Amino acid sequence: MSDNSTQTSSSSTQTSSVPSVGQNTDAQANAAQVKDIKRPQTVEIENTFYGDFKMTQERPNVNDRRVINGEEGDVVQLSPIKHQFAWDAYKAGNANHWLPEEISMQKDIELWKSDELSDNERRAIEMTMGFFTTADSIVANNLVLAIYKHITSPECRMYLLRQSFEEAVHTHSYQYIVESIGLDESKIFNMYREIDSIYNKDMFAVSLTEGILDSAFTTKSDEAAQMFLENLIIFYVVMEGIFFYSSFVMMLSFQRQNKMVGTAEQFQYIMRDESMHMNFGIDMINTVIDENPQLWTPEFQEKVYKMVRNGVELEVTYGNDVIPYGILGLSPESIREYVQHIADRRLERIRLKPIYGSENPFPWMSEAIDLGKEKNFFERRVTEYQVGGTLEW
Ligand SMILES: [Fe+2]
Ligand SMILES: [Fe+2]
Repeated sequence: MSDNSTQTSSSSTQTSSVPSVGQNTDAQANAAQVKDIKRPQTVEIENTFYGDFKMTQERPNVNDRRVINGEEGDVVQLSPIKHQFAWDAYKAGNANHWLPEEISMQKDIELWKSDELSDNERRAIEMTMGFFTTADSIVANNLVLAIYKHITSPECRMYLLRQSFEEAVHTHSYQYIVESIGLDESKIFNMYREIDSIYNKDMFAVSLTEGILDSAFTTKSDEAAQMFLENLIIFYVVMEGIFFYSSFVMMLSFQRQNKMVGTAEQFQYIMRDESMHMNFGIDMINTVIDENPQLWTPEFQEKVYKMVRNGVELEVTYGNDVIPYGILGLSPESIREYVQHIADRRLERIRLKPIYGSENPFPWMSEAIDLGKEKNFFERRVTEYQVGGTLEW
């Protein structure tokens, strides 16, 4: 019988040292004594996975809740929700659930074995897989090992858990594609080390994790909080918001010509998830800035411009490497324009001025990202998910 069960008169004959609801004052006095002896009033846990979280018997004030440095507002009790964008993103992510093995790769297997793909098209597929088979894993590691610990909003943490799982699904998806179509695994899985244009993108992101992984790191000083904000911007704005998108263009261009349709369908789901990740990340970044306006100095904003410029150059170099001679109506120049165009859009989202002014050479990408507008553009299975879930973000 549990301690919380209703006591009846017959139970009064039982001897128990554990008091329960409704028992006499002696038992309550015992309980108070046990509480005094066994339970300290305050547990201060410094610099652990809770951050500087204080476990006390006092009610926290939800108004103290912050995305960073908000331990006073409670990091473990979800409700009442303050950062609504995070809770909305969590629910939308759940509604968009998918798994790689639900998608047939049969047509891709046949096409890859045939002589209908050009060498340049094969190179583009291989390099795309070479980048992505580790990119989402790098993002997941950054989320779990660097970001999560320092985020003090329980609702943001809920979404980080969902996002981390989705990154695992994406890594699973790339593995499944490589295995299904029988790519040379040792070649693909080592590309992130052996191909300079991929290595340099990964290094750019990973180098921004280094200081934050230090066990003594906290976000308490403005300088450290800026370092943390820099990490959020590199990962959510540059990595997920710029580094992924030229590959998304390429994979959806295959689909528009009815080639590699299984691989492309996997990428449609991934792109939908990634748009959510980026949008959540941008909301979180802007909230950190709103809650800590002293961090958003002109010097820091210059730093952000520099990171975005560097990211764009790395992505343009990568694009040149993936399709040096152009394929499927894409050229290195159109990829450059597209990357610059989306970089401007990302800058605007974090309230900075655009710097490139490039036109979007692929207006159809906007429709592809906004699934709600073009339901028939997508294949059967996506439509089924649309019936069952919300696709708004
Ligand atoms: Fe991902
Ligand atoms: Fe992501």
